[in-house]
Amino acid sequence: MGYFRKNIERAEGYTPGFQPEQGDVIKLNTNENPYPPSPMVMETMSQITAEQLRRYPDPAANAFRVTASQVHDVAAENIMCCNGGDDLLTICFRAFCDKNRPVAYPVPTYSLYPVLANLQNCKKIEAPFDGEFNLPAKLAGTGAGLTIVCNPNAPNGSFINVSELACLADEINGVLLIDEAYVDFAEDNCLSLVRNFDNVIILRSMSKGYSLAGLRFGYAIANPDLINGLMKVKDSYNVDGVAIAIAAAAIADQQYFKENVEKVKNSRKLLTQQLQALGFNVPASSANFVLAENKKYKAAAIYDKLAERNIYVRYWGVPQLDDKLRITVGTDEQNDKLISALKEIL
Ligand SMILES: Cc1ncc(COP(=O)(O)O)c(C=O)c1O
Repeated sequence: MGYFRKNIERAEGYTPGFQPEQGDVIKLNTNENPYPPSPMVMETMSQITAEQLRRYPDPAANAFRVTASQVHDVAAENIMCCNGGDDLLTICFRAFCDKNRPVAYPVPTYSLYPVLANLQNCKKIEAPFDGEFNLPAKLAGTGAGLTIVCNPNAPNGSFINVSELACLADEINGVLLIDEAYVDFAEDNCLSLVRNFDNVIILRSMSKGYSLAGLRFGYAIANPDLINGLMKVKDSYNVDGVAIAIAAAAIADQQYFKENVEKVKNSRKLLTQQLQALGFNVPASSANFVLAENKKYKAAAIYDKLAERNIYVRYWGVPQLDDKLRITVGTDEQNDKLISALKEIL
């Protein structure tokens, strides 16, 4: 007999996007922001003291909560900080799922959800999206303890209207977690649902819009009862003192954040047009990536040829996605290099 619980032995871990070691690559495979974080972040980092490192951090990360609450016009009690949005996902599986409380989500979506379900040993109810990525009606009646909707959805960037998610929150008995990791690049968001529904949790990440993927910082926004329950599940010191100071500085600099997001959105429009001109089918995306399909050429072959040229995009050899490439929106210069390489390859 092995040392691990049976479901852990059976489980496959999450496969993160490839992180090349050499610097001279065009990395459009893990949805990082192509621009550096706010200058206020670097300033804050330079002022970190030995005392801040010697002491344990504030378990509630109030310096961040207070600033974020002003940005979002909610109370600090509506916010819980996490070691990246992924930490919040783990906390939610631990809090709401077990053998009798399944998780439900539409597919295809963020491939971490089934991995966490397998680790928690809970049943997965996967509701397939239709061709237009509409919210599957099946989600309303699953009886799941946790329903997750990734909005904008990964890996295609589609956006489900707030009113539809309000109906879903109303219809289900369990918790609705709306994964808004990419919402900074969308035109709308579901924050208002937190005021009207006691079962809605919004996930936000500092990795994308704020260019802090390396820091690991995300947060939940929900009503205080849910937040207090989640606080019992998280590690006491799940975010470190340096991260709290840096994330607070980043979210305080809204002007820098908005300028960067606008740049990425403009580049997304241009990249979409350039890819379409090359014969790719590229549905509208509300995220910092696009999902591109070329009916004539195999996605896996294009992926390999791009990698030979040190250009990395994301490819999954799984049903529904094995004919597509997910491409992170880079700077216009990076996108131009990708397009030139594609012109050579096709
Ligand atoms: C859909 C989705 N949700 C959540 C996350 C977690 O982001 P992070 O842990 O970097 O905050 C990611 C990361 O790529 C994601 O794609």
